Amino acid sequence: MSQNKTLNPDLLKLLKESGNILVVTGAGISTSAGIIDFRSPGGLYSVAVERYNLPYPEAIFDIAYFHKNPAPFFRLSAELLLADIKPTPCHHFLVDLEAKGKIGILVTQNIDMLHEKAGSKHVIECHGSYRTGRCLSCGKRFEYKDFSGPLLKGEIPYCKCGGIIKPDVVFFGESLPESFMSLFYRRPKVDLLLVLGTSLTVQPVSSFALDYAPRIPSILVNRDPTPYDGRFSYVHHGELDDFAQQAWDNVLR
Ligand code: OAD
Repeated sequence: MSQNKTLNPDLLKLLKESGNILVVTGAGISTSAGIIDFRSPGGLYSVAVERYNLPYPEAIFDIAYFHKNPAPFFRLSAELLLADIKPTPCHHFLVDLEAKGKIGILVTQNIDMLHEKAGSKHVIECHGSYRTGRCLSCGKRFEYKDFSGPLLKGEIPYCKCGGIIKPDVVFFGESLPESFMSLFYRRPKVDLLLVLGTSLTVQPVSSFALDYAPRIPSILVNRDPTPYDGRFSYVHHGELDDFAQQAWDNVLR
């Protein structure tokens, strides 16, 4: 864990003076809730091959591999969904930022639904979530409650037709939801880009955010450096909950 660091006063001033903020979040916002991220040391991709007996780490979210062997994804899903996960201080900070009318768009790459659980009203889940699912054979749509029984036991949920019900989590090799793709193509006007807790390695969300970064004021808060730090007006390397606390005290009070 990195040491808490005081935020740059100019970063706080920018945050305070900006409305219509585009917020983009990644796995780093949920690690203090107990969900490991993907690419940090000890993250999912460093343990997945051994833990789920995979040929390569990303296979757990690869649609071609899922068609051959869906079991590892459902094992992971049960672990994720059974864990008593609660939103973090940073999720709550974003709820208050939204309530103050300062968020124009909130895009998350996370499938954990913690933004919604915290109380954020308008969230675009660009990598989907478990809220709904679809039968891979007949295409029938399902709500979470329809397939949560087997899901929570780590078992494969099946449709009456015999097909596998796949939660609407976006795998590598699948299209992203229309709610995100329309943003991607429209690039709506926003006044500030605030990127929180992502390595910015996965497309197309990375290029969506980075297209804004040199054109408008931008802030990146992440524990570790990313290859794109130089594009941002302000970069803070630190813990997101600490960032949230300082931002609360200085921006929302
Ligand atoms: P990554 O694991 O790639 O990056 C998470 C970033 O969060 C890392 O750079 C960490 O330094 C940072 N981080 C972790 N904990 C933090 C904390 N407490 N405070 C501040 N920073 C922290 O995760 P994502 O960028 O979200 O896609 O990964 C993007 C996508 O890759 C995921 O949505 C997932 C994955 O494959 C799919 O599953 C489709």
